[in-house]
Amino acid sequence: MQVLLADHAGFCFGVQRALDQVEKEVGQGNRVVTYGPLIHNPQVVERLARQGVEEVKDLAGASSGKLVIRSHGVGPEVYEQAKQCGFDIVDATCPFVHKVQKLAKDFTDQGYQVIVAGDRNHPEVQGIVAWTGGKALVVADEQEAKALDLQGKAALIAQTTLKEATLRHIESALRGKPIELAVRNTICAATSKRQDAARRLAAEVDVMVVVGGRNSSNTAKLAQICQGAAVPTYHVETADELDPEWFQGKQKAGVTAGASTPRWIIEEVVQRMTDVNQEQATTELNEQKQEAIEVQEPQNEVEDMDK
Ligand code: F3S
Repeated sequence: MQVLLADHAGFCFGVQRALDQVEKEVGQGNRVVTYGPLIHNPQVVERLARQGVEEVKDLAGASSGKLVIRSHGVGPEVYEQAKQCGFDIVDATCPFVHKVQKLAKDFTDQGYQVIVAGDRNHPEVQGIVAWTGGKALVVADEQEAKALDLQGKAALIAQTTLKEATLRHIESALRGKPIELAVRNTICAATSKRQDAARRLAAEVDVMVVVGGRNSSNTAKLAQICQGAAVPTYHVETADELDPEWFQGKQKAGVTAGASTPRWIIEEVVQRMTDVNQEQATTELNEQKQEAIEVQEPQNEVEDMDK
């Protein structure tokens, strides 16, 4: 079995940048606190915790230090509260997310009804909505877009990790309404490239493994894309979750990983799949040898009888 790794698998620019900022602060001996998990990958968060990085969900109860705003970004009220609590802010919001926040605010200021295509429970989307003073509406799919009662001017923007197809479907649902619609495709290039590469690889292999946190929205979307290519797809967080049965009789296996999956986890998964592959090849070889011996044995018996 050939094991192929998709292009653009693993950390995106924004996640790498956030991690570098945290490591720099830790290296300088600062007390570092992140507002929520730095990235949606439990193994990386655990590793940071071992280096002394704390995670807080409520700033009010936290003591001061360097507060890292993660790549998903936050609303303006969090910056205010952090300052009041005495934190020194390290803003690791991805510049692409910053751009969407600004766009959402500007459209709102110009009297547009902002519509965010995305997951309303995702911190990035909640942060974007907060920059519109809570006025933006969030739609997850075409049905929700159709159900909106809109008038006047509306602006459609997207969560940076949304699937392109979802944005297109939402846009066409809104085009059917009597409104002046502005559309900005704010899906980040890193997401599009990763999704395209996963789609291409899924079309040429017999099985796909998608590596990343179960709480990672972009990893879940990669898994959906691979499933959409009608190839058996397994979402794992680490190499320990791999099951050799998945690769039985397969010629080609593909691997891709979400934007918050570190290189070392991807390498472990690829290595384990390669090991499984070699074990299976050895087992098959042994079975073939055994069959060959069994085929020869009756001939020996005939020879013995002749003597
Ligand atoms: Fe930024 Fe895109 Fe990554 S928005 S955090 S580079 S997925």
